[in-house]
Amino acid sequence: MNIIIADHYDNLCEVSADIVKKCVRTQESAVLGLATGSTPIGLYKKLILDYQSGDVDFSNVTTFNLDEYVGLSRSHPESYNKFMNDHFFQHVNIHPDNIHIPQGDHPKLEAECKQYEDLIRYAGGIDLQILGIGSNGHIGFNEPGSDPEARTRVVRLSESTIEANARFFGDTALVPRLAISMGIKTIMEFSKHIVLLANGEEKADAIQQMAEGPVTPDMPASILQTHHNVTVIVDKKAGQKLKNQSLYRTS
Ligand code: PGA
Repeated sequence: MNIIIADHYDNLCEVSADIVKKCVRTQESAVLGLATGSTPIGLYKKLILDYQSGDVDFSNVTTFNLDEYVGLSRSHPESYNKFMNDHFFQHVNIHPDNIHIPQGDHPKLEAECKQYEDLIRYAGGIDLQILGIGSNGHIGFNEPGSDPEARTRVVRLSESTIEANARFFGDTALVPRLAISMGIKTIMEFSKHIVLLANGEEKADAIQQMAEGPVTPDMPASILQTHHNVTVIVDKKAGQKLKNQSLYRTS
């Protein structure tokens, strides 16, 4: 696990955007795994600016998002479909046919999960997977206790995630209780390179345990210690509880 402690959030976004651009430029038709949440918004902003200045071309890129709430239509203001359109897709030249986000209002959710998994496999896996991390250590919506062998499936959100996401819905009662999420096995097996981003002190405990604690389903992100190609990029606040600071690169 390669850990980079960025000076501040802008710096984290620049470093992660450079990794994405390198992947898109060097792969003939790159497959990106994308994440929602407040953390990657600055990364997407940077990529949009770089696209507008002609620095990167997404025309041959395929994307797969990690997750989506069950029961929300694609146009629901809090759906991850809408989030991705607003924050990234509508501003760059990724072909709409190449964009994949689980369909949370699909009438047959199990079939949708299986098809999603198959689509990633047919695409040849994911060249670069962007991840955020929950304060509880979740990746995607793989909450503490998730089976490390799990594939894309319907999951139940933990109480802490429901609370954390209530800020977007205005009321805890309005947060969907279920989601479709790529499984831990999906992420681990299909991703050739994983970049996990975290900023802010509310992520500091999760980052320390993820990187330096035991590998356990109680801290789902800790399994990344066993992946062959992981880059963690944190700002100083999210990295402040890492014990072996001297081992980590700064930028
Ligand atoms: P955040 O969410 O970027 O909004 O903190 C991250 C996550 O829950 O994975």
